[in-house]
Amino acid sequence: MSIQAKIDTIIKSVGSISIQDFVEISNFDKVSGFYNKPNIEKIGKDGQFITSPEISSLFSIALANQFLKEFPKAKNVNLLELGPGNGLLTIDIYNYLKSKNINVNNITLLERSDYFKEKISERSKLKVNFIENIYDYEIDNKNTIFIYSNEFFDAFGSKQFVFNNGNFNEIKISKENSKYFLMQDSVAISGELIDHYSKYKFKNNDILEHSNLILNILSDIKNLNCKKYFFTTTDYGYTKLPLKSTLRLLSSHKKLHLFDKFENVDYSFGVNFELLRDFFISKNPQIINQKNLINNNLPNEYLKSRNKNIREIIDFISGEKFNNIGQVFLNLSFKNDETIS
Ligand SMILES: C[S@@+](CC[C@H](N)C(=O)[O-])C[C@H]1O[C@@H](n2cnc3c(N)ncnc32)[C@H](O)[C@@H]1O
Repeated sequence: MSIQAKIDTIIKSVGSISIQDFVEISNFDKVSGFYNKPNIEKIGKDGQFITSPEISSLFSIALANQFLKEFPKAKNVNLLELGPGNGLLTIDIYNYLKSKNINVNNITLLERSDYFKEKISERSKLKVNFIENIYDYEIDNKNTIFIYSNEFFDAFGSKQFVFNNGNFNEIKISKENSKYFLMQDSVAISGELIDHYSKYKFKNNDILEHSNLILNILSDIKNLNCKKYFFTTTDYGYTKLPLKSTLRLLSSHKKLHLFDKFENVDYSFGVNFELLRDFFISKNPQIINQKNLINNNLPNEYLKSRNKNIREIIDFISGEKFNNIGQVFLNLSFKNDETIS
């Protein structure tokens, strides 16, 4: 059954569908969801959109160095990537650490898409373990764990609420006379949302995006009982609520409007880095933009290179190109080391 037929069935039976469910089904339906559908290139030049690890391994080298700055003496490392897609970031990080004579003892990939799991297994010679939930991760406290992700959190569905006269209503999708439209539904959690985001003074028509799916996975990460790890995550997002919709639809590298088409569309949201920072505040997380991530962590042999190709790649992965299309890429990282007192 097509995505559109699935959405229509839900609307027919309960009257509407939330934006979060709409995006989750569109992205992750087991059969026709964008991330699971076979035979359709998803990420890369021939896919629907491109990401930094697909542009160049320089991005992966910068991330690996960000880790090595915090754990310069690491000799035995376990890798844990969240949402690897085609898996290039992990392959490049593995090769870079190997080139520095660091042992990578174990590679675990948290991946929900069967399409990517198959693709990685077919393509890569590396032995990897796949998990679908963070709590299935087998912790090995003998080694330092490097946990990283790129454009992972933006693929999570999020609810959208609109503020009106002191209350939040949820935005939902419905259909009448073959036309889709957005409607508002009152919700019991309006007061909870106002409390949660109490530092904001909302005005009528402000939009709030809130994802309990992200909150759940952040809790799972926080509960990981690893003694020695570095966590770094990069995504497009914001550190102050934009108070408007950040939902973005991409197909064949072009932006679409909601309902333009339903199949082979990637849906993503801007990631709330303020929420991520508050969540991990006890670990003193640092937020920088992707430009600084590259400039602070890429070795000088690349940063100072006069080679035109390398210059172009650095401009690209520094976010110049992404900023042009209105996206700001941010990086949050922190170190946890319970082996030092
Ligand atoms: C936008 S893609 C990014 C892929 C890759 N990191 C890159 O930069 O090219 C998002 C990735 O996260 C995965 N993903 C999203 N939500 C997930 C979840 N809840 N559990 C596991 N994987 C998830 C998707 O299947 C996909 O591999």
